[in-house]
Amino acid sequence: PTVAVLLGGPSAEREVSLSSGRACAAALRERDFNVIEVDAGPDLCAVLGDINPDYVLNCLHGRWGEDGCVQGLLEWMGLPYSHSGVLASALAMDKQRCKEVFRAAGLPVVQSLIAAAGDVRTRHVMEPPYVVKPNNEGSSVGVYLIGEENNGPPQLDADMPDFVMVEQFVPGRELTTTVLGQRALSVTDILTTGWYDYDAKYKAGGSTHVVPAEVPTEIFELCLDYALRAHNALGCRGVSRTDFRWDESRGAEGLILLETNTQPGMTPTSLAPEQALACGISFGELCAWMVEDASC
Ligand code: DAL
Ligand code: MG
Repeated sequence: PTVAVLLGGPSAEREVSLSSGRACAAALRERDFNVIEVDAGPDLCAVLGDINPDYVLNCLHGRWGEDGCVQGLLEWMGLPYSHSGVLASALAMDKQRCKEVFRAAGLPVVQSLIAAAGDVRTRHVMEPPYVVKPNNEGSSVGVYLIGEENNGPPQLDADMPDFVMVEQFVPGRELTTTVLGQRALSVTDILTTGWYDYDAKYKAGGSTHVVPAEVPTEIFELCLDYALRAHNALGCRGVSRTDFRWDESRGAEGLILLETNTQPGMTPTSLAPEQALACGISFGELCAWMVEDASC
């Protein structure tokens, strides 16, 4: 079958997507799929129309590719595509609305609000420590940590959106769980020396992943349970990855959901493929599974 692998695109996570897409394309070629890599631009509809693929493997991250936009285009064209559909993608990408869905599903989240960037620059809109982030970006692009020691409000970059999410900062470990279909795979403990920012995520040696995480069984099981419930509350399909923070001094009460990623990173060393491998699913098998799971 012919598979169009969508990669690149105009979001802030373009480079990550190029890595994800190229890795998946290579793995699918090894499994004898006829793969065409498509760098997603304004002519995407025409390009896909010419290729007329049997499946679309969506390896885009961030705006346009992870927020329901490209999913809507693929629905419109009637092309079976991987990962989540329009609604789940749009909900998960809007961090504030995603939390509202989590709350309604009884899943633990921390307090957050949407504020005008102008207000955030001039006063503490929340008691520090807190985090400021764009409401709809991934990979820690444009994330500010305002520690207790900070005296003034954050000097946000000029290119931050007009409205941003301000979230209470929770100390603790970074845990993450991948869901594949209806199976929560495992828990990874992400160890960094500092903040788990863009560099820590993507530079060699920026972070260490411990999978399966060495946490108490109760916490491990809770992560699996919460991740599957988050996946289903949002209506996700295929692969998703839910990120947690765990303040171990507070036991099970200290585990909170940060967000669900409907287009998790897909390089062989990314978190989701790493968990799949830990469960005996090779990268090639994972890519083939995503293609076979595609629908519209
Ligand atoms: N946003 C990146 C790609 C991730 O969640 O893996
Ligand atoms: Mg994310």
